[in-house]
Amino acid sequence: MGNAEMEEFIEHVTERTDIYSVVSRYVPLTQKSGRYWGRCPFHNEKTPSFSVRPDKGLFYCFGCGAGGNVFKFLSLIENITYFEAVKLQAQRLGIEIPAKKSSPEQERRRREEKLLLKINELAQDFYHECLIKTARGEVGRKYLAARGITTETIETFKLGLAPDEWETLFKKLTRQNFSAQQLEAVGLIVKRKNSFGYYDRFRERIMIPIANIFGHVVGFGGRVLNNADETTPKYLNTPETALFNKRNLLFGLDKSNRAINAAGTAIVVEGYMDAISLFSAGIKNVVATLGTAFTPEHANLILRYARKIIFCYDSDEAGQRATLRALPIVQQIGAEVFVVKVPDGKDPDEFIRKHGKAAFEELINNADTLVDYRMNYVLAHTEYGTTAGKFRALQEILPVIVKVNDDVKLKDYLKKIANALSLDEYLIEDEWKKISSITEPDRNAVVIKRKKLAAEENPQLKAACEDILRMVWYEGDILGYVLALVPLENFPEVHQEIIKWIETCMAQERRPDQMNAAIELSDEANAELARILIKGSDQPRERELVVFDDSVNILRLDMLEKKYNKLRAQSEKDMPNDEATRFKIIEELIKVKEEINNLKGNR
Ligand code: GTP
Ligand code: MN
Repeated sequence: MGNAEMEEFIEHVTERTDIYSVVSRYVPLTQKSGRYWGRCPFHNEKTPSFSVRPDKGLFYCFGCGAGGNVFKFLSLIENITYFEAVKLQAQRLGIEIPAKKSSPEQERRRREEKLLLKINELAQDFYHECLIKTARGEVGRKYLAARGITTETIETFKLGLAPDEWETLFKKLTRQNFSAQQLEAVGLIVKRKNSFGYYDRFRERIMIPIANIFGHVVGFGGRVLNNADETTPKYLNTPETALFNKRNLLFGLDKSNRAINAAGTAIVVEGYMDAISLFSAGIKNVVATLGTAFTPEHANLILRYARKIIFCYDSDEAGQRATLRALPIVQQIGAEVFVVKVPDGKDPDEFIRKHGKAAFEELINNADTLVDYRMNYVLAHTEYGTTAGKFRALQEILPVIVKVNDDVKLKDYLKKIANALSLDEYLIEDEWKKISSITEPDRNAVVIKRKKLAAEENPQLKAACEDILRMVWYEGDILGYVLALVPLENFPEVHQEIIKWIETCMAQERRPDQMNAAIELSDEANAELARILIKGSDQPRERELVVFDDSVNILRLDMLEKKYNKLRAQSEKDMPNDEATRFKIIEELIKVKEEINNLKGNR
């Protein structure tokens, strides 16, 4: 896309984006005196110091100093670049992203990718037709019917059957002019080891198409029809290909993302069948991993749609261990994590078929928090017989509750642990204090280190600098006047960066705006700018102008007083013998003093 096209796109997205609705899907906000407040998602805090001003399109955390416009927020919380944030928001708003102008190489790769996707789509159709329309599909239809899977579900997920044949798909697709290399590249066929040629990878299996977020099929999971034969694996998946990467894919997300967004919650299950079963029963905010561990990429994928993630893994030991492994990842990325343990050894699929949707919803509503889950797990695996065992358990539990923000809850947890381990509550509290004092600050925290501003020690000067910056931001023309009275070096360093940048914008005849600020300023300057703008009053302009003049005077006065003191010190210490120079210094001193008096008189 060209430059103008790009600008238009960004403008379009900006216009239709409301910072309140974007932020509030991640952070609960409450309104107080004209702005919104919440607990900062970028650092751990108990009382809200994170504020949002929809009228100004800005956020700022008075606790950690993170701040900026809506895309800055998205890029920080999603851990993506600024431009990716714009694109993400465009996607959410349903605004089409203009195609990038790409090199011939990129163009070639895109065409190739399209082709591979086409092959997968044709394979999906082939398996699906085979299941629903042909005589040899009968075994598959019987199998699915026995599992209570309706024709409607078969349609929704485009389930299929790979027939018990070695070359049918291979021949069918090569007849359609796809090469063996291409078919192999998507994992549908396998090279024969001891002779020439290829054979179909999937045979005699129920085929479950796996789509990327755009709904394009990128691979398959194939389930054996009978469990009896223990030599064949229950599931055969597409191998890792250019399209199919298990770390980045969640089964069902293409269908469930709207429901996940609407519910604010995603339910993560282990099995394809669990996801299919829940979805068909009306629990639509569900995804499944592809038989591998839950990755940070998975978490980020979900966080695009919801902040809450509920793990609902099989209740066997393996499932529980998988849950435990997944949790820290998700917690680190900043999701709210809950865990459901399906009762009596069942997986979610079996449970919902036996007990129904309402019973499953009940489970979801009573999901354990991460802390409860972790605590119960450790307590269930504790050797209560020995003091050493109890202390080991304690060392495992305490780090988890270090992150609990709520004092009341914290007390409850400490009490619960004390009771469970029959250890003294004070002892537990001491141990907790020790651990929380050595625990590193939240790793996810985006703490913008603010260099101590010299002006910050003097609140009056600080306020004056902020007033001036705010005025200059809205009325760039005024900058020349300001700098004539108060040269740049009299401003704090971060402000200097902002002022210089505004100057550049003016020179290039463009208005300084949030969008460019976020891209062109350092993080520190950008956050400082947001802080200042967010604090701005909504006074009418005339009032602002009075404040502004006053502020310029305050800064100039401060500058002159410093200059005067310096000259005085100089004249006292090493007044030159040379008459003329001496006279010059004294003249200067008088001039400065006069202006100081003048300025003071005016105030
Ligand atoms: P059903 O047994 O048909 O109900 O399947 P399920 O979806 O409940 O699967 P299960 O809970 O047994 O396993 C969870 C997930 O692990 C599956 O959905 C697969 O992604 C993966 N998986 C299970 N068995 C195998 C296997 O033999 N090979 C591979 N590669 N993956 C497997
Ligand atoms: Mn199952």
